[in-house]
Amino acid sequence: MNPTLKVAEPLTLPGGAVIKNRFFKSAMSEAMANRSNSPNRLHIELYRTWAEGGTGIVVTGNVMVDRGALGEPGNVAIEDRRDLEQLKQWAKAGTQGSAHLWMQINHPGKQSPRTMSRQPVAPSAIPMGGSYGRAFKTPRELTNTEVKDIVKRFAVTAEIAKEAGFTGVQIHGAHGYLVNQFLSPADNRRNDEYGGSLENRMRFLIQIYDEMRSRLGAGFPIGIKLNSTDFKEGGFTEKDSEEVVKTMAERGIDLIEISGGNYENPKMSSEDDGEVFFLKYAERIKSLVDVPIVVTGGFRSQVGMEEALAAGKTSMIGIARPLALVPDIPNQIMQGRYETVRTQRLKTGLSSLDRQLGALIGLSYYEQQMERIARGKPAKLHRNAWNPLLHTLRRQGIAALSPRRSN
Ligand SMILES: Cc1cc2nc3c(=O)[nH]c(=O)nc-3n(C[C@H](O)[C@H](O)[C@H](O)COP(=O)(O)O)c2cc1C
Repeated sequence: MNPTLKVAEPLTLPGGAVIKNRFFKSAMSEAMANRSNSPNRLHIELYRTWAEGGTGIVVTGNVMVDRGALGEPGNVAIEDRRDLEQLKQWAKAGTQGSAHLWMQINHPGKQSPRTMSRQPVAPSAIPMGGSYGRAFKTPRELTNTEVKDIVKRFAVTAEIAKEAGFTGVQIHGAHGYLVNQFLSPADNRRNDEYGGSLENRMRFLIQIYDEMRSRLGAGFPIGIKLNSTDFKEGGFTEKDSEEVVKTMAERGIDLIEISGGNYENPKMSSEDDGEVFFLKYAERIKSLVDVPIVVTGGFRSQVGMEEALAAGKTSMIGIARPLALVPDIPNQIMQGRYETVRTQRLKTGLSSLDRQLGALIGLSYYEQQMERIARGKPAKLHRNAWNPLLHTLRRQGIAALSPRRSN
C-alpha cells in the first residue's frame, strides 16, 4: 500500500461520512435482474467483488422506482419491501472492507424503449429526437399529481435502500432520463409549477432531494449525477447546470458526479482511451461550491488520476467500464501493480451492423463481463463483437436489440 498516493487519501463528505479513498465506481446497469426485476445472487457476488477490489464508493446500476417504467430489460426496480432480504445481502456484500455502497435511483421518463413501455411518460408530450428516436414512443405528459407521486417513489426507494444497509443513494439526474427531462427546456414545456423558469424546472429534483433528506436524516449521503450540458439545441446548458449545482450545494447534497449527454446525443462516454471528458467543466464548478465533485468518463491511467486529484480538478475519480474488466483497479494501484485498462470499440466486421448496433455492442460487452465477474470468472478481453452480442440476445431476448442508452 502506497500512502503517498492522492487516490489513497480519505475524504469526508459534508454530512460527515468518511470515504476511505478517492475511487468512485460509477453506475453501470447490470441488466441481470429476472423478469420480476428483483435483485439476485449475481448482484450480490458482483458487488462483493467490487467492494473487495478496494473502491471507496461503489454505485449500483440504476435502480428503477417503478416496475411499469423501465429503461431496459433486466433493470432492478424497488417499489416496496418485497425484496428486502436480497437487498440486505446485496448491501452486506457490497460494503465489505468498509466500502460505501450507494444505490443509484432512476426513472426513465420517455427514454424507455417501445419494447419496454406501452406509453412512456414525460414532463411534456415531446417525442425523443436523434438517430435513435424511432425506438421510443411519443410520451404522455405527466399530470401534476403523478409528478408528486414519482417524487415520493424516489424517496421510498431511497428509504428501503437505507433500511437494507446501503450506505448512500445517488439521484440519476443525467443522461436524458426523467430528472434530466424536467431540467431541460427542450423536454419540459409545462405550465404548472414544474415548468418554465429554471427554478420551476428544478423543482422536481429539489422535491426528490428534500423528501429523501427528510426520510433519510442529516448524515446519510445523498449524491446526484448531473449532465454538464445536454449538448443539445435548446437543452440544459452549462449555465443551468451551474445553477443546479449551487442550489443542491446550499441544500446539503453530499456529492456531485459530472457526466454529460443523453441518448439523442451521447457524450457520456467515448471509446478513445486517455481522454477525460468533463474535467474543465468540473474545475469551474469546483470553484463555485465546497461539495465534493466526481468526474466520470475516460479515466484510465494512474498518472491521469493522480494529476486530476493533485490539480484539484476533481475530488474523486469516477470509473465505469475499466472496473467491469478489472474489478480491483484500486487495490492494484495502491499496491503498485496497475498497468492500464483499454476500453476499445468492438466490431462485428460488418460495417452497417457496427454502425447500427455500435452502442448496443458496447453495452452488451460490459454486461457480459459483469456477469462473468458475478459468476466468479475473470473478464474476457474480446476483440470481436459477436460473442457479447449473442450473450445479450440469449439473456434478454430480441427486446435487447432496441437502443436503450448510448455508450
Ligand atoms: C454497461 C454500462 C451501463 C451503464 N449504466 C449506467 C447507469 O445505470 N447509470 C449511469 O448514470 N450511467 C451508466 N453508465 C455510464 C457510466 O456510469 C459512465 O458515465 C460512462 O461509462 C463513462 O465512464 P467510463 O469512461 O469510466 O466508462 C453505463 C455505462 C456502461 C458501459
